[in-house]
Amino acid sequence: MQKIQIFDTTLRDGEQVPGCKLNTEEKVALALRLESLGVDVIEAGFPISSPGDYFSVQEIARVVRNATVCGLTRAVRQDIEVAAEALRGAARPRIHTGIGTSDLHIKAKFNSTQAEILQRAIQCVRWAREFTDDVEFYAEDAGRTDNEYLARVVEAVIKAGATVVNIPDTTGYCLPHQYGEKIAYLMNNVPNIDKAILSCHCHNDLGLATANAIAGIIAGARQIECTINGLGERAGNTSLEEVVMIIRQHKDMGFYTDVEATMLNQISREVSDTMRMPVQPNKAIVGSNAFAHSSGIHQDGFLKLAQTYEIIAPEEVGADSSKIVLTARSGRSALAYRFRKLGYEFTRNDVDVLYDKFLRVADLKKEVQDEDLLQLAKLYAPAEHA
Ligand code: KIV
Ligand code: ZN
Repeated sequence: MQKIQIFDTTLRDGEQVPGCKLNTEEKVALALRLESLGVDVIEAGFPISSPGDYFSVQEIARVVRNATVCGLTRAVRQDIEVAAEALRGAARPRIHTGIGTSDLHIKAKFNSTQAEILQRAIQCVRWAREFTDDVEFYAEDAGRTDNEYLARVVEAVIKAGATVVNIPDTTGYCLPHQYGEKIAYLMNNVPNIDKAILSCHCHNDLGLATANAIAGIIAGARQIECTINGLGERAGNTSLEEVVMIIRQHKDMGFYTDVEATMLNQISREVSDTMRMPVQPNKAIVGSNAFAHSSGIHQDGFLKLAQTYEIIAPEEVGADSSKIVLTARSGRSALAYRFRKLGYEFTRNDVDVLYDKFLRVADLKKEVQDEDLLQLAKLYAPAEHA
């Protein structure tokens, strides 16, 4: 089994979401939770971006002892010096520096050339190596960067001392097979690739961030950059809980992570509360409906054997137990089950009669609650069944 490093960027890319800005106290508290969750790297912020972020990175660097603490920079000497200063107290400091490598970025953002950007890439890694041995280079918009040029950049930054090379699909453009092929191309065409690991940093503009990251590790990358609840710029980043559970569910891929899966639901709630960003109910793993069954066919199967409709047991990810939700699509077995939970043992015939009454209530409501069931039970059988 090969380990996949989990690089959490909730406090940097996740915090870029409008409305999600955190103060230092909140960032430090979440960083400590991420450390106990078992992530390998915590990207704590972008130190030069504001005095507040500098201070947050400094505080996180001071208190986090096991995980690597990382600070983001542009390919600018002053950014790197400021990040190095903020990370000074870290047990394991990492500088994450880089520059855009796609033709679009090279021309529109930098009015530059491939040759000049290659030099700037080498230069920023050398600067960062003056301060720490752990330097990660990002080739921004690698998703739309020509593979042959990207391979030259990756080779050069590894030679300059980068130990991790991040291949961001910054705009969430790639299809999974394209992203996988990009990583495979780099694995096969960069002569010194054994001196560094490749990292997947995928955005979710087309809803493919998780699929792309998984395609990346299958093709040879060994780090995934992700966030709790998939928070991040625009449509977000690869979701940490999703990749962790995909890796656990598909052991046949031959990977593992050090993340403690039973903490996933709790930390998802903490991030959601602290960042004031609700989690969509149908969100994989941590959404409130992730373990709720509402259609009659599913409920009947689930009540016979949970695995018929659940590939993960809720306790595996620290979620409340599975829910049988009653709607107009629910069936008799679910109704009988919910009555049993309320202390009513009805016969098959009773349930048939009650089911018709239940459907009339259910057609009027989005969800039938315990109060409604108690009312039905009382009207149907005032005392004898309870
Ligand atoms: O999406 C991106 O390219 C980034 C880089 C700064 C790593 O977030
Ligand atoms: Zn990003």
